Amino acid sequence: MKRYPFFLFLLLTIAAQSQTKKIAIIPEPVSVTEKAGTFILKNNFTISVSANDADALGAAKQLLNALTVPTGYKGSVKQGGSGAIQLRLLSSPDNSLGNEGYKLSVSPGGVVISANKAAGLFYGSQTLLQLLPKDIESKKAVSGISWSAPAVDVTDQPRFGWRGMMFDVSRHFFTKAEVKQFIDDMVKYKYNMLHWHLTDDEGWRIEIKSLPKLTEVGAWRVKREGKWANSTNPFPNEPKTYGGFYTQDDIKEVVQYAKERFVTILPEVDVPGHSLATVAAYPELSCSPGPFEVTAGAPFMMWYNGGHDALVDNTVCPANENVYAFLDKVFTELAQLFPFEYIHVGGDETAKNYWEKYDQVKELMKREGLKNMDEVQSYFVKRVEKIVTSKGKKLIGWEEIIQGGLPPSATVMSWKGIEKGIEAAKMGHKVVMTPAPFVYLDYYQGEPSVEPPVYAGLRMKKVYEFDPVPSGVDASLVLGGQANLWTEQLSRFRSVQYMLWPRALAVSESIWSPKEKKNWDSFVEKVQQHFGRFDAAQTRYARSMYDPIITTRESRGYVEVTMAGEIEGLDIYYSIDETIPDNYFPKYTSPIVLPSDAAHLKVITYKDGKKVGQPISLSIAELRERMQ
Ligand code: ACM
Repeated sequence: MKRYPFFLFLLLTIAAQSQTKKIAIIPEPVSVTEKAGTFILKNNFTISVSANDADALGAAKQLLNALTVPTGYKGSVKQGGSGAIQLRLLSSPDNSLGNEGYKLSVSPGGVVISANKAAGLFYGSQTLLQLLPKDIESKKAVSGISWSAPAVDVTDQPRFGWRGMMFDVSRHFFTKAEVKQFIDDMVKYKYNMLHWHLTDDEGWRIEIKSLPKLTEVGAWRVKREGKWANSTNPFPNEPKTYGGFYTQDDIKEVVQYAKERFVTILPEVDVPGHSLATVAAYPELSCSPGPFEVTAGAPFMMWYNGGHDALVDNTVCPANENVYAFLDKVFTELAQLFPFEYIHVGGDETAKNYWEKYDQVKELMKREGLKNMDEVQSYFVKRVEKIVTSKGKKLIGWEEIIQGGLPPSATVMSWKGIEKGIEAAKMGHKVVMTPAPFVYLDYYQGEPSVEPPVYAGLRMKKVYEFDPVPSGVDASLVLGGQANLWTEQLSRFRSVQYMLWPRALAVSESIWSPKEKKNWDSFVEKVQQHFGRFDAAQTRYARSMYDPIITTRESRGYVEVTMAGEIEGLDIYYSIDETIPDNYFPKYTSPIVLPSDAAHLKVITYKDGKKVGQPISLSIAELRERMQ
């Protein structure tokens, strides 16, 4: 056997240790103090729980599972006594920690997580997992790893109690197992709210026992693959086989699964617009005669500057008493299934062009003294609020519920921007901030030629600038913030993950971390470490932050190209000679003017001497199309 000098061994050991020691906790905690030494998790470890508290024992079991699967070790949870890892519920509350905060102490002798409530123990556990090597994310046992964590003291608590992610399961149906995976992915980064968008024009996804056609008819459509909004309408008698729904047993199982991971579920039934699946099932709920079909992606809405009209009436009729009886049934069952105090009633993007022409709406306006369509919508939302309230729940809706006047107890989700959130808060209403320019994670995230096509873009750097509390707003009225994931263009769960990660990491720091602790450059460093964790977890993520976005302008008849990276230390190389560049090609430093004979611009990026970006190739015609 060849013998290596001892110093080389020492060097490698130190290098290995410093790798595992690099602390990269996302979202950034309130405070982290590094100490000397490391904690090493050993086989047959014990997690002890100080109190006989079901939720705390539940948090311990979650941690046990997260540790035993990848290590292959045996471990146990016990109540009381000592253990390598101790979870302590504080007997006299520490007011500085609130309901979800925690203190984590990692030392060579063991780990102690203390908190007022079990949720804090759970979040302390997530932080502990992030201190362990990336392979702790593996779904099966990995051998040959020293399961060490650097000694550290962490004190932490969230900035907001509402740390949400909206998952649209209507545009494409995602299975119960995928929803559970979505929850697993969220909680690693301390999200605690799943806003479940259960109904829309493309499918009704929740069993309502008293209204069976909602799922018999509304959950299914003809199958179309390819480019969204490009698809053909159903052919006569074409089978409707694409879709799915959750039975009430499925819903109960997911609610319980979420609860065990300290996640609350906010169910959404979107009315009065976005209701094509509803009226496909029950056409009598429309003001229009019908029949209707669940849309499979062919465009049926006309968007113009500042408004939109429906080409097919996708609303329920505000002038029809049967609609309120219908919603009473829906909300009765919803209220029984979901323990959360809120029900989301949608209210966004209602096309009112059909309402304008029907006598029954005109009669309603006369009877109720409603001056315009906004007031008709407001009448509808106020009726819905009474129903929701009668089920012991509170109403939350998208920002359009402000139009024509808000019901007094309504909470508003500000989505087009922050403005309506500010307006609602100024009227004394609670708000959740989900502004599209910062947190719509369905938007493409890098150079558009190498991203799935979407109508708008949103880079992670912009996401990182999200602050749920705009200046001048009473912060106590802002419940928190939320990332939204619409799935028109996402038919697979792998694509869902691609859009979420790493941008949802940026949102997590905006809604958990103290504002003054956020730092883009150190965040990017951490994100790169978390890429290794995503790989170990087999979670898909986007590496779009490594690609420059290419913009062009006219320069005396020539094309001038600007390439904008979003992170420091990105080296951009390019070619215009039809060959594929590497890091010995010309390096981009400032805008370049392409010679008249150029046919393509080809680009690749490196960081620290390693290729990191995707190969980009744009023809002169494509570059000209981008001219500003
Ligand atoms: C929305 O994006 N229509 C709420």
